[in-house]
Amino acid sequence: MKRAIKFKLKNGKVVTIRRVRGTDYDDMMKFFDKIVRDPSVKYTSQYPGQPKKDKESSVAMYDNPNNLFLGAWDGDKLIGESTITRIAPDNPKMRGLTGETGSLILDKYTSNGLGGKLKTLVEKWARENGVHKLYAEVFHKNIRSLNNLMKHGYQIVGIKHDAAIVDNEWMHIYILEKILEK
Ligand SMILES: CC(C)(COP(=O)(O)OP(=O)(O)OC[C@H]1O[C@@H](n2cnc3c(N)ncnc32)[C@H](O)[C@@H]1OP(=O)(O)O)[C@@H](O)C(=O)NCCC(=O)NCCS
Repeated sequence: MKRAIKFKLKNGKVVTIRRVRGTDYDDMMKFFDKIVRDPSVKYTSQYPGQPKKDKESSVAMYDNPNNLFLGAWDGDKLIGESTITRIAPDNPKMRGLTGETGSLILDKYTSNGLGGKLKTLVEKWARENGVHKLYAEVFHKNIRSLNNLMKHGYQIVGIKHDAAIVDNEWMHIYILEKILEK
C-alpha cells in the first residue's frame, strides 16, 4: 500500500489507514499500552504488563518489505493495526509463501467495519506480493474474530488443544487458513 486512505466507520467517524513505519514506533507502543487493558483482548495472547517490544527489532520489523504492518489512525492516535508476517522467506522450501496475519483494534472502534476493511487491504497486499496462503491463530472463545475471519473466507483447518488459560478455563486455539487464488 503506497499511500494513506480514508475510511469511514459505521458510526460515521473517519480514520486514516496507512503503512506503519519505523518512525511510528512510539505510536505503536502507546497503542499496545492501551489495548492490553481493553476488555476486547481477553481472548487473545495480549496481557497487561507484557514486555515492551525492543525498538531496534520493532523498527526493522515494520520497515521490512517482507512484512505488512497497516495502522488505522483517528487524528494522531493509532487505534488499530493489521499485520502480515511472511514465514521463513529465506528458506528455499518455504519461500515466505505463507503469511501469518493478525489484527488488533481498540475496543471503542470495534464492530464498526474497520476489521473487515483491514482484512481486505492486507489480502490485496498479500496477492500483489506473491503470498500464497494467509494463516491465523484465534482463541476458541474469540467469536468476533472467528466471525470476522470466516466472513472473509478463512477456514478452520486445525486446533491446538489446551493452549492457554483464561479465567481458569482452558483455551483452545483454532488455526485458520485462506489459500489465495491467482
Ligand atoms: C477481531 C477484530 C479485528 C474484528 O474487527 P472489527 O472491526 O470489530 O470487525 P468488523 O466490524 O469489521 O466486523 C466484521 C465481521 O465480524 C463479525 N463481528 C463483528 N463484531 C462482532 C461481534 N461483536 N460479535 C460477533 N461477530 C462480530 C461480523 O460477522 C462482522 O460482519 P458484519 O457486521 O458485516 O456482519 C476486532 O474486533 C479486534 O481487534 N478485537 C480485539 C482483538 C482481537 O480479538 N483480535 C484478533 C486476535 S486473533
